[in-house]
Amino acid sequence: MDAIAIRIAAALAPHLGLEPEEVAGLLEVPREAGRGDYAVPCFSLARRLRRAPAQIAAEAAAAASAAIAPGGLVRAVQAVGPYLNLWLEPATFAEAVLSEVALHGRQYGESRRGAGQRVVIDYSSPNIAKRFHIGHLRSTVIGAALVRLHRAQGYEVIGVNHLGDWGTQFGHLIAAWERWGEEERLAGDDPIGYLQELYVRHNRAAAEDPAYAERARAAFKRLEDGDPSARALWSRFRELSLREFARIYELLGVEFEQIAGESFYEDKIPHALELCAARGVSEWSEGALIIDFARHGHPGLPPMLLRRSDGATLYATRDLAAAIYRFETYDPAKILYVIGAPQKLHLEQLFTALRLLGFPAERCAHVAFGHVQGMSTREGTAILLDEVLGRAIRLAEERIRAGEVRVPAEQIERTARAVGVGAVVFADLRHRHLKDIAFDWDRIVRFEGETGPYLQYAHARLCSIAEQVAAVDPEAAAALVEFGREPLAPAQVGALLGAGRPIEPQLLVEPETFAVLRLVGAYPRTLERAAAELEPSVLAQYLLELAGAFSGFYHAHHVKNAEPAQRRARLALVHAVRHVLAHGLTLLGIEPLERM
Ligand code: ARG
Repeated sequence: MDAIAIRIAAALAPHLGLEPEEVAGLLEVPREAGRGDYAVPCFSLARRLRRAPAQIAAEAAAAASAAIAPGGLVRAVQAVGPYLNLWLEPATFAEAVLSEVALHGRQYGESRRGAGQRVVIDYSSPNIAKRFHIGHLRSTVIGAALVRLHRAQGYEVIGVNHLGDWGTQFGHLIAAWERWGEEERLAGDDPIGYLQELYVRHNRAAAEDPAYAERARAAFKRLEDGDPSARALWSRFRELSLREFARIYELLGVEFEQIAGESFYEDKIPHALELCAARGVSEWSEGALIIDFARHGHPGLPPMLLRRSDGATLYATRDLAAAIYRFETYDPAKILYVIGAPQKLHLEQLFTALRLLGFPAERCAHVAFGHVQGMSTREGTAILLDEVLGRAIRLAEERIRAGEVRVPAEQIERTARAVGVGAVVFADLRHRHLKDIAFDWDRIVRFEGETGPYLQYAHARLCSIAEQVAAVDPEAAAALVEFGREPLAPAQVGALLGAGRPIEPQLLVEPETFAVLRLVGAYPRTLERAAAELEPSVLAQYLLELAGAFSGFYHAHHVKNAEPAQRRARLALVHAVRHVLAHGLTLLGIEPLERM
């Protein structure tokens, strides 16, 4: 829990007979006006304190009020039913928040909560020789945000791209290539589309003529047995696919710790199957190896097929081998599967199998996401680089060239790229991941409204306000150079903040200013929640609120034209908001632009 929440909680904790950390964990921001700046709901304390929540609140409020000292952080406490509502002393609060920003500098918001623990995040995971589709884009965007959010909590994160690069379908592909393959088309501008077409053609032929099916089986057998020509083809298709996917990853700024596709687990399957047999979890049924969950106390769950009667293993078998490998290799605190909602049953089977095998399956979670609406089938299945990200980038460029924002000519292209990508990423992350999302093209690339470009613009505006202040008041800028950059020692923070110092917190007390500071102060908690709930949307929504609150402040108060001490204090506020916006956008995978 962050230092500010603990300081607020400390005013109440002794009167509740609890530790400040515990009370800090309960702190909320009341929705209704007049209910205090913060509130502590007492419901969850009733059992332990053996009193009704309202009585707990009333007694603690009386005791805490009596103990309030002038100039302290908490200015008033009042019980309203089961809630303890508190009001803060704005100047003390401003000092508390800005001190935290100064102390932690660029790392403000981050924590070491996850230090010493590993998290495996399985995300993106497209299939080779097939198009990267919109579901893979969602998985990539959500997964990459979860990777960064966990890193910011101190976890060691292993991001894994579980490429679909193995399975009987590659038998069809190889057989198809050997029959119809044309080098020129593979060298053309859409190799993946061509491979997909070959695969579909062969698969169709096999449905009508068993000879094709037989050739596909034989080809996959050769691949499994390590036949050099089958292997060489497979590697080539894999390389071509990866090259294509790399363009998308580069645009999104995504890198994986591990690209371990399904093929990586081929030689790990025997170990998984031995465990299943040794622990009495699997059985043979009509020539196939299965896990019959019904016989293990899960009557509603359909059996999981591990080996078909023709000997072939399946997607599920490879997932089981992968999970066992991850548990045994990394001993992770969490394994997250960022996969579309349609695979819910598959993951339920996987997690249940792991539990039956004695692995701590409760550490696994399915981060499921919904569909994308408003996209034609063509876009849904097409190479996203051109159809989705490309379209967003083109729209962004049009708007920039139309003068909606001002960007120096030589920066238009790269700005359009960042804005287009930011638009798509934000449209995805602003809602809880389980929801379907709608790509309303006209709306998501706007510089106003609840969009990524709006936040990028808000960030650029903060940069420009800071520059304007520096132009009229270089001394103010110089006095604050250290603020919000490298972490500072407490003594340095003391020299920076306080009455008569460069930043005078008692000048940051108006309601609009307090509203901004309250959000800045909530940033560490917001990041913690986003990671714990596996919800980047918690951060996305927070950033919208922060940008909105800053707008409210900026409408009501001058910065550049304020008198000098006021100007410096407000410049510190601008720096703090800018830091949080930049940090938060970066965690989401959106570039905070400095000029537009
Ligand atoms: N390749 C799969 C697909 O496109 C997604 C794989 C997700 N990860 C996993 N461990 N199953 O549907």
